[in-house]
Amino acid sequence: MHYTNLKPFPRDFLWGASTSAYQVEGAWNEDGKGKSVIDMMDHPEGTAGFTVASDHYHHYKEDIKLFHELGLKAYRFSIAWTRILPEGSGTINEKGLAHYERVIDELLHYGIEPIVTLYHFDLPYALEEKGGWNNRETIDDFANYARILFERFGDKVTHWLTINEQNTLILHPGAVGIPKGGSSPSKKELYTQNHHMLVAQGKAMSLCHELCPHAKIGPALNMTSMYQATSKPADAIAAHNWETLRGWSFLDLAVHGRYNRLLWSYLEENGWTPVIEEGDLLAIQQGQPDFIAINYYSTATIAESRGDSSDVSPRAGDQQIMLGEPGVYRPEENPYVNKTKYGWVIDPVGLRLTLRKVYERYHLPIIITENGIGAPDELTEDGAIHDEYRIDFIQAHLEQIQWALSDGVEVFGYCPWAAMDVVSTHQGYAKRYGFIYVNRGEFDLKDMSRIKKDSFYWYQRVITSNGNER
Ligand code: BG6
Repeated sequence: MHYTNLKPFPRDFLWGASTSAYQVEGAWNEDGKGKSVIDMMDHPEGTAGFTVASDHYHHYKEDIKLFHELGLKAYRFSIAWTRILPEGSGTINEKGLAHYERVIDELLHYGIEPIVTLYHFDLPYALEEKGGWNNRETIDDFANYARILFERFGDKVTHWLTINEQNTLILHPGAVGIPKGGSSPSKKELYTQNHHMLVAQGKAMSLCHELCPHAKIGPALNMTSMYQATSKPADAIAAHNWETLRGWSFLDLAVHGRYNRLLWSYLEENGWTPVIEEGDLLAIQQGQPDFIAINYYSTATIAESRGDSSDVSPRAGDQQIMLGEPGVYRPEENPYVNKTKYGWVIDPVGLRLTLRKVYERYHLPIIITENGIGAPDELTEDGAIHDEYRIDFIQAHLEQIQWALSDGVEVFGYCPWAAMDVVSTHQGYAKRYGFIYVNRGEFDLKDMSRIKKDSFYWYQRVITSNGNER
C-alpha cells in the first residue's frame, strides 16, 4: 500500500525511551534490597555482572535531567520487586518504595510521564527458592506486589506494563540466565510457569482497574513477524507454526483470555499441558488489557522442519535468533536484510508489518516499548560517540511507524531501547544501546560519567519536531 501523504505522528504521541531496573540501577544490595534471580546468576565469562550496571540508582537525578534535555515525553522503566519486597512477599521495604517515589516525582517534575513495568526478568530469589513460577503461590505474591505499587503510585502513574517479554522468559530462558547451581527448566515446567504468569498477569490487570480507575495497563511482549523462506506450502505452515507459538499464543491469552488452539494441540502432543485450576481462566479473562506494548527488534525467516537435530540453530539462547524445533520449524537466512554486529536481523519494514498484524488481530492501541540496536559504541578522541548506525536504525523504524499510522494502526508511543547504556541481558556492557553513553568498561568502572551520543542530539530534534525532522 502506498500513500501520497503519510499521516503525521499524533500530537500527543509519547516520545520516550526505556530501561529496566536490573540493567541500569546497580546498588544490588543497598537500602534493604533482596536478591533477585539475576543477582544469583552465573554470567557468561567476559561479561559484566549487574551489581553496578550504570549506577542509575545513585545517578537518577542527573539521568532524568538528561532525559529532560533529550526532550522525552515518557520514560519506561521497571521497578525491582526485590527493592519493594526483599523476600518477594511479606515485609515491605519502605526505602525501596521511597526510592521509586523520588524517581517518579522527579520525572513528573520535568513533565515526563513514567511508564512502569512491574516485572522485568528479576524475580526475587527467595521466591525462586520456593519453586519460582513453577509454584502457584507466586501468582498471589505477584498480585500482592502489584497491589502495593498500585496503592502507592496509582495516582501518579497512568501507564503500567505487567510482565516484560513473558515469551522470552518461556521460549528463550537462556537469554535471561539460570541462577547458579540451577538446571534449565523442562518444557513442561516452562509451560506451567507460563500459565501461572498469565493468571498472575490477569489478576494484576484486574487489580489495576479496580484500584486505579484512571490508569491503563497492558502486557509487553517481544513481537515479530515470521517470513516463510520460500513459496513452498510447508514453509508457510512452519512460519505460521512459529509465529503462533512465539507471539500470538501469548497475546491471545492476554487479550482474549483463551488458549490458542494451535498452542494447545502442540502442548497436548508433547505432554506439556499445564494444570488449569478452577478460576484460572476466569482470572485471565477478567484481566483485560487497555493497550498492547510490543518490543520489536527483528524478524525471522522460517522453513519447513527437517525433523531432526539439524533444525536447531547452533546459536541457542538468544531472544532474536530463532532456535528451531524438529517437527515445528527451522530458521533460515534472509538474503534481503542486513544484520547488527551481534547477528540480529535489521528489518524496519518488519515493524510496519508486525504493527499491522497486532492491530488487526486485537484492535487495541499499541505502544512500542523497545526497539534499538546493540553496538560496541566507541568514545572517540574528540570526546564524542558517533553512532550514526543508531540514528539510521531508529530513523528507518520511525519511517515505518509512520507508514503503519497511515495504514490505520493506532500507535500512541515509541520508547526505544535504551534511554542510556544498559548491561545487555547476556552480552555484557560492550553491547550498548543508549542515547547516553556511560563511561565504564566491561570490568573497569572508570568515572561512570554520562556523555551524550550523536543519536542524543538527533533524537532531540525528532522529538522537538514531533517526528517531522528526521
Ligand atoms: C529485550 C529485553 O529482549 O531485549 C531487554 O526486554 C534487553 O531487557 C533487550 O536488554 C536487548 O537484548 P540484549 O540481549 O542485547 O540485552
